[in-house]
Amino acid sequence: MGAEGLSRPAGAPILEVRRLCKDFVQSGGALKKGIVLNAVADISFDMHEGEILCLLGESGCGKTTLARMLMHLVRPTSGTIALDGVEVQDMGERQFRKMRRAIQMVYQNPFDCLDPSRRVGSLLAEPLKLWFGDLSSDERRSRIENVLVECGLDPECVGKRPKEFSGGQLQRLAIARALLVRPRLLIADEIVSALDVPIQNQILQLLTTMKEEHRFTVLFITHDLSVARKVSDRVMVMKQGQLAAIGPTSDVLDRSDDPYIQKLSASVFTFEGA
Ligand SMILES: Nc1ncnc2c1ncn2[C@@H]1O[C@H](COP(=O)(O)OP(=O)(O)O)[C@@H](O)[C@H]1O
Ligand SMILES: [Mg+2]
Repeated sequence: MGAEGLSRPAGAPILEVRRLCKDFVQSGGALKKGIVLNAVADISFDMHEGEILCLLGESGCGKTTLARMLMHLVRPTSGTIALDGVEVQDMGERQFRKMRRAIQMVYQNPFDCLDPSRRVGSLLAEPLKLWFGDLSSDERRSRIENVLVECGLDPECVGKRPKEFSGGQLQRLAIARALLVRPRLLIADEIVSALDVPIQNQILQLLTTMKEEHRFTVLFITHDLSVARKVSDRVMVMKQGQLAAIGPTSDVLDRSDDPYIQKLSASVFTFEGA
C-alpha cells in the first residue's frame, strides 16, 4: 500500500497488532452494571502475506471484537494496528480509505452484509461503485459475472434475492462480494459455523482456492478446532480476551496438556451463536 509498502523489506508482516485492548463498560443487569469488561486484553501478533491465521477460542472470548477493531468498526481502548508498516492512526485520509478497502470481512450470518430485500446484482455492484467508482456499468457487470463463476454460482443469479439461496450459496455470495474489491486481508468470522460439514468443506475449499488465485491473506475465526486444522497455517488461541497461544497449527493444537485447548477440542460439535 502506497510508497511505504513498496519500501518495506521482503517478508515484512502485512499486519502488525500491538498491545491491543478493548474495554466495554457493561450496561445490562443490576449485578454487571458499570463493571468494565476487558473484551480484548493486550493482544499482539503479526500476520504474514499469504498465510491463513486461524483465531480460535470459545464463545465470548473476544474474537469478533478483535476483528471489528481490525476492520475499524470498533475503536480500540489502547494499542496499535499497522498495515504494511503504517499505523492506522498515522494514516492520511487517502491512505485510510485504501486501508478500508484492503481489509474485508465475511460474517457468520451472511445477512449482515447482504440485504435480503435487494437483488444480488445490486448488492454486488454496491462495493464496486464505492471503491472503483470509475468503472463503467459494463465493466462492473463483467467483474460481477466473473466473480460469481469463480465462486461457483450461476451468473444468472444477479436477478435473485438472497432469500432464494441456501446457506452455503449465501456464503459463496458473501465471499464473492468481499473478493470484488480485491482485499489484501480477508477476515472470515465463523463463516462455516452454521453449515453442515459437507457444505463447510466446500466453502473452506473455495476460500483456500481463492486465496491462492488472488493472493490475499486470511484471518479465519472459528470456535471449531477441526475447522481450524483444515485451513490454517498458524493458529492463535484467545481465552477471556487474552492471547493464550500462537504458533504453527500442529504445535499449538497438539499441545494436548492445555485444558482450554482440550475443551475446545471436545466442543467441536456444539453450535455457537455468538
Ligand atoms: N458492543 C458491546 N458492548 C458491550 N459488550 C460487548 C460488545 N460487543 C461484545 N461485547 C462483549 O465482549 C465479549 C466478547 O465478545 P465477542 O468479541 O463477540 O466474542 P466472540 O466473538 O469470541 O464470541 C463478550 O462478553 C460480549 O458480550
Ligand atoms: Mg464472534
